[in-house]
Amino acid sequence: MASTSSRSLVGRRDEIDRLLALVRAAGRGEGGVLVLRGEPGIGKSALLDHVERTAPEGFQLIHASGSEFEGELPFAALHQLCVPALAHLDSLSAPYRDSLLVAFGLADGAPDPFRVGLAALELLTAAAGKRPLLCVVDDAHWLDTASARALTFLARRIAAEPIAMVFAARDQDPIRGLDELPGLTVTGLSDAHARALLAEEKTVTLDERVRDRLLAEARGNPLALIELPKAGGFAPPAPSPIASRIERSFRARMAELPPDARRLLILASADPTGDPGLLWAAARRLDIDVSAASAAAEASGLILFGTRARFCHPLARSAAYLAAEPERRQAAHRALAEATDPGTARDRQAWHRA
Ligand SMILES: Nc1ncnc2c1ncn2[C@@H]1O[C@H](COP(=O)(O)OP(=O)(O)OP(=O)(O)O)[C@@H](O)[C@H]1O
Ligand SMILES: [Mg+2]
Repeated sequence: MASTSSRSLVGRRDEIDRLLALVRAAGRGEGGVLVLRGEPGIGKSALLDHVERTAPEGFQLIHASGSEFEGELPFAALHQLCVPALAHLDSLSAPYRDSLLVAFGLADGAPDPFRVGLAALELLTAAAGKRPLLCVVDDAHWLDTASARALTFLARRIAAEPIAMVFAARDQDPIRGLDELPGLTVTGLSDAHARALLAEEKTVTLDERVRDRLLAEARGNPLALIELPKAGGFAPPAPSPIASRIERSFRARMAELPPDARRLLILASADPTGDPGLLWAAARRLDIDVSAASAAAEASGLILFGTRARFCHPLARSAAYLAAEPERRQAAHRALAEATDPGTARDRQAWHRA
């Protein structure tokens, strides 16, 4: 999930240069891939946003992401990546076309992973025939295994195609295949850049001692620099990892919301598609006053409902999901299952029911 803010980046000159070189090469027909790695909040999604926003004119952008609560759904992320290219499905040979339909749960049968990989490659190559393609895959550490395999298969075979692929993944567990691709580790901002970012946040004024302590604790992590001041007072340097402290801060902000807005956030956290149509339909089933609840939720800055519902950060999404009482979570999944169209998303409906 990309960050909702479109603030301009502080620092990151080298990373941006590397990404732009990759994209420009793809424009000349020399495809390539880069995997951004780094801890939560370090700025991987922000870099993806940036490269999407600044890609040379003429590029087609395709965005997909792994999803924390969807890792069990085979080919979910590959599906996201292929949807914008599905217009080219008819140009594929029948066996390839069928293998994709099976993989995406639109036809019966057991998918053959190798054939699915080849078919997806054909599909994207066909899509890139007219205009070069930039494929961005965020939160790759949450990819379902089938998609991870198919996407690394693709990534290794685009050298002669006008296709650039950029992945972002937390550097926790190694992800099979992804680790063998060219990588770039995103590290903390320099002290000067961290200070600059902190100074940009006008909402909170910090005295010098507090600021210095915050800078020391954040170790250049932009999310920590942005979120920890909002959490109010500072605990003494705690052993808990920065991610869990940021998650606590998101939880605290959520707790201040009116009940309907909180329920809407829980619903959004349980829906990996981010499709607002589905979300509103499910919300009405739960008797949520959609316009008031969505306005309050957006005003909190935790989520934006545009063409896609987007949490400001995956930690905000997991905070919403994990803070919900189990009954609330079940009710959310039930409402989403009922609102999901069984004709086009049978698997997904079954998954919400499970
Ligand atoms: N260089 C930067 N300058 C300004 N803001 C930044 C920068 N990098 C990241 N941010 C902001 O910091 C926050 C966290 O960044 P981001 O969401 O990109 O982290 P991430 O590495 O993708 O984390 P995760 O692994 O949890 O997805 C976002 O609000 C983002 O806009
Ligand atoms: Mg991210």
